[in-house]
Amino acid sequence: MANLSDVVKMRAELAASYDLAPSLAAAEATKHIHAKMDRVVPLADWATFAPYVIAINRLKAERNAVILGHNYMTPEIYHGVADFVGDSLQLAIKATEVEADVIVQCGVHFMAETSKIMNPSKTVLMPDMDAGCSLAESITAQGVAEMRALYPGAPVVSYVNTTAEVKAVSDVCCTSANALQIVNAMPGDTVIMTPDQYLARNVAALTHKRVVWWEGSCIVHELYTAADLRAYREHDPDVKIIAHPECTPEVVAEADFTGSTKGIIDWVHKHKPAKAMLVTECSMAANIADELPEVEFAKPCNMCPYMKMITLEKILYALHTMTGQVEVDPEVSARARIAVQRMIDISRAAA
Ligand code: 13P
Ligand code: SF4
Repeated sequence: MANLSDVVKMRAELAASYDLAPSLAAAEATKHIHAKMDRVVPLADWATFAPYVIAINRLKAERNAVILGHNYMTPEIYHGVADFVGDSLQLAIKATEVEADVIVQCGVHFMAETSKIMNPSKTVLMPDMDAGCSLAESITAQGVAEMRALYPGAPVVSYVNTTAEVKAVSDVCCTSANALQIVNAMPGDTVIMTPDQYLARNVAALTHKRVVWWEGSCIVHELYTAADLRAYREHDPDVKIIAHPECTPEVVAEADFTGSTKGIIDWVHKHKPAKAMLVTECSMAANIADELPEVEFAKPCNMCPYMKMITLEKILYALHTMTGQVEVDPEVSARARIAVQRMIDISRAAA
């Protein structure tokens, strides 16, 4: 929704059907939901979210819809309206299991495409079609062909942060949770990883395979530097630094733990450090702050501008109008499904 006139139109349409004014009565009626985030969302803010949360949850039931939310969604989405939250691997698996008629994907576009690929008979709604990803935008099917020409015979492992077209020309997908397992499961000595150079370099440090990569990067995680993290640790030697593998290998080397967004959440739950710095997207700490009152979450964090395009207002509008339907060419989808399913099968076998 790039255009201001679209926002004005959306607001006028919603105002005609719902009372969305901030409401302390709505906040009171949903205080059990607010309790999951009251450490990070003040009551006054919740009073502005609550009317949307009530309207979305009602409409979900009417439309037989479920909301799949990525761990980077803001707390009012993550705790307020999502039926299932998780990392990219969990969301891809969950998409295969959804029985409801409609999936509303609260995350970025490649995640909605993955849901459609894995469950083509469902209606998949994307609250904002412009919510992309710097990694998915960094490579096309032509780029994969170029890598195959450079390294003939080497299998292509593509991160799920890619378009359906790229998945369709890849041998298998991976996520940050299973990249090492998938690379190790590939035949031959050389494996091509696309499009995240840092995930690839982090995997290369752990595998006996030769890993070659595309030069893409995540605009959120590449901002962190090892020097900054060293300075934070010097200032606060007790802080536990927990990083996502889309960070540079130098940053990963400074971390006490590196893992997918689910891996990070699990690690903090297990170890309950007095102070934790999550070297990833800002909503991660906000979403688990109430579950872990004993943990102080140290800044900094970086926001993903794409993930932050998803708002309660846009979710309500997508469900109200049933607009933002994600479509994938059936032939591309069938080939992409093979790559995603292969990833799920390898992951399950390894687990
Ligand atoms: P996860 O698979 O770890 O949730 O990561 C997805 C992502 O886009 C991280 O930037
Ligand atoms: Fe893409 Fe990075 Fe945003 Fe994840 S955080 S969606 S990898 S731009």
